[in-house]
Amino acid sequence: MRAAVCTAYGGPDVVAVRDVETPVAADDEVLVRVRATTVSSGDARVRGSNFPPGFTWMARLIFGVSRPRQPILGGECAGIVEAAGAQVTQFRAGDAVIALTGARFGCHAEVVKVRASGAVVPKPSGISFEQAASLAFGGTTALHFLREPGKLQAGERVLINGASGAVGIAAVQLAKHFGAHVTGVCSAANADLVRSFGADAVIDYKATDFTGTGERWDVIMDTVGNLTFALCRGSLNAKGRLLLVAAGLGDLLKAPLQSMTSGLSVAGGAAPERAEDLALLAQLCEAGTVKPVIDSRYAFTDIGKAHARTDTGRKAGSVVVVFE
Ligand SMILES: NC(=O)c1ccc[n+]([C@@H]2O[C@H](COP(=O)([O-])OP(=O)(O)OC[C@H]3O[C@@H](n4cnc5c(N)ncnc54)[C@H](OP(=O)(O)O)[C@@H]3O)[C@@H](O)[C@H]2O)c1
Repeated sequence: MRAAVCTAYGGPDVVAVRDVETPVAADDEVLVRVRATTVSSGDARVRGSNFPPGFTWMARLIFGVSRPRQPILGGECAGIVEAAGAQVTQFRAGDAVIALTGARFGCHAEVVKVRASGAVVPKPSGISFEQAASLAFGGTTALHFLREPGKLQAGERVLINGASGAVGIAAVQLAKHFGAHVTGVCSAANADLVRSFGADAVIDYKATDFTGTGERWDVIMDTVGNLTFALCRGSLNAKGRLLLVAAGLGDLLKAPLQSMTSGLSVAGGAAPERAEDLALLAQLCEAGTVKPVIDSRYAFTDIGKAHARTDTGRKAGSVVVVFE
């Protein structure tokens, strides 16, 4: 099969499309023929060894010291089940699915193997493979942070910093679904997009610093990585929650003490890859409550260009890569 192979850490040019062995499904796995995948911020971080401050040494131990241990990146895809292992009862050949392989990667290939009990669910029928491929990474991250550390309740006020990114635009839609009043922080260029996906208010970060407005929120979710507890404390209501989706190690280490001493909650960490979260997203997508947002599309042979687009940090939603 063809796969995008990343043999070193570096710029988009370290990714090359090559012929590699097609994986074989174990008894509890399915083989998915990938129709569409994405180059997410997670793929770009690993390829470029561009981790949040303080995480590089830890991430290199996890992802590979001198080059990516898993050379085929890609943490999400949509495709067709080609074969199912002997113990797999929930899927069979021909089923259309969405899979989130997360840090195990492997989706930047014509075929990927996934554990049938992992984050793989039927694809919603009303959307394309490209749309389905762009649902999981941002959606499951936003869902985890808003529901678990965020404990977002109907009627609460939430601010999403980075509302136009893959995580942010999913968070805007999910927060609206949970009945919150949503403020999106984005550039003026993306204000209409963020409003059209449900934000009640939009703040242009280039014109206004939300921390200086005197407004307060119950939940502040930072998907950009430029907020700290010190900056946000005065903008949080009593019992407010600060969600640090993209924080460096230093801010995460301070979070427990800040939470203990302030009556507020500061939380970060990695979102899990769970089948039930993906199933809920697929259900919300089927109902039209959550819509996938595609920034741009590239043919698989142009996957280097897709990496370059993601590297800009300017994408709105997902950068999709399509197998033709
Ligand atoms: N903790 C976890 O488990 C987890 C999971 C997934 C992702 N993440 C992290 O979450 C972060 C966001 O991921 P993503 O995939 O959503 O990123 P992304 O799609 O690449 O985000 C790009 C968006 O951010 C906007 N942006 C850039 N600077 C901004 C600023 N100063 N204020 C507001 N918006 C700004 C850009 O809009 P403009 O160009 O218009 O500014 C663009 O639309 C990444 O750091 C990623 O590593 C963490």
